[in-house]
Amino acid sequence: MLTFKKTTLALALAGATLATAAHANEVEVLHWWTSGGEARAANVLKELMEAEGYGWQDFAVAGGGGETAMTVLKSRAMSGNPPSAAQIKGPEIQEWGELGLLGDLNEVADAESWDELLPEVVADIMRYDDQYVAVPVNVHRVNWLWANPAVLEAAGVEMPTTLDEFFAAGEAIREAGYVPLAHGGQAWQDATVFESVVLGGQGSEFYQQALVELDPEALGGEQMVAALEDFKRTRELMDEGMSGRDWNIATAMVIEGTAGMQLMGDWAKGEFTAAGLTAGEDYLCAAAPGTEDAFTFNIDSLAMFRVASDNEREAQQVLARLVLEPTFQEAFNLAKGSIPARPDLDMSEFDSCAQQSLADFQRTAEEGGLVPSMAHGMAVRADVQGAIFDVVTNYFNDANMPAEEAAQRMVRAAQAAAF
Ligand code: BGC
Repeated sequence: MLTFKKTTLALALAGATLATAAHANEVEVLHWWTSGGEARAANVLKELMEAEGYGWQDFAVAGGGGETAMTVLKSRAMSGNPPSAAQIKGPEIQEWGELGLLGDLNEVADAESWDELLPEVVADIMRYDDQYVAVPVNVHRVNWLWANPAVLEAAGVEMPTTLDEFFAAGEAIREAGYVPLAHGGQAWQDATVFESVVLGGQGSEFYQQALVELDPEALGGEQMVAALEDFKRTRELMDEGMSGRDWNIATAMVIEGTAGMQLMGDWAKGEFTAAGLTAGEDYLCAAAPGTEDAFTFNIDSLAMFRVASDNEREAQQVLARLVLEPTFQEAFNLAKGSIPARPDLDMSEFDSCAQQSLADFQRTAEEGGLVPSMAHGMAVRADVQGAIFDVVTNYFNDANMPAEEAAQRMVRAAQAAAF
């Protein structure tokens, strides 16, 4: 998260030369794709760059959700030495743009007709001041429920479609001797579950008012209190060992059949795929309970830093071009669990979850229900997101904090962060 004051960084950068650690004909790329499925996906880009004769300097910073990666990026930028490209998403792209640190991709965007190629909702996020400064790699959906069918069967339950069914299924799974809901107690994972529960119980209009527009009446009102109470109930379905657990370890519990379900974005599918499992047979996916008519989108993108050398700039343009080419879009997204950022591709190689994701993306874009993920940096700026994460996690872990108090804290978090 970009938690430093803009002025501090601007001062540190004044007069700094725009040198990056990458050498000629090489790109240094910062990302946090380090789990089994993620690393397979990242490797696709490395290999494509190398096949074009460019070097790939891997700058992987472990940590789901990318908080650690953003801290490391901030310190590299502070020392006037940013990487050529970094996984930066959503409104945070605007924050880096405002600092004057991003280079433009207009040349390649014009040559490859990005304006026509990309859905407006995607293209918009990639531009700063009307210039393309980032390239989208995919569209992840966050509001998913994953399940192990053998565990559901042993518990005698079906894939739940409402929150009531979800809690009932959870109880049955526990009685059958399994962990109902695999989870890792990290702020971003708590927020991932929280936003799906807000959406599932209160609907996408409320979600939009509260977690995107930060309307104080929505944030502090009765619906938020109800959502917070539902969220706290999910804790009863988690196991004792959840504290600090990484998300992919939680996914592994579903894969191995020690846990029944997980609420997580479709990067979890990358883990099922890497384990050689087949969607609809070895594991199940469905919209998170109650969210069938909604889609929380999370678009990964690579933003380019302004660089001094022509060679490195050329390598950046090549990287951006490759990212939107069909070869990369297909191979990367098959491994990553997401769907392509461009909607014109043949999807026949993709599994049933990806097909559903694409259909739901298009349907919710037309009919309403397509909302940006707060937990994954698509909805609000980094300082607001950080303040909301604190409230969500503190409330989740505090047995004595009433939901009403958490809702009031949520209002203050959104206000405090705005100044
Ligand atoms: C990113 C995904 C990543 C996930 C887990 C999300 O915020 O968008 O690409 O797989 O975090 O690290």
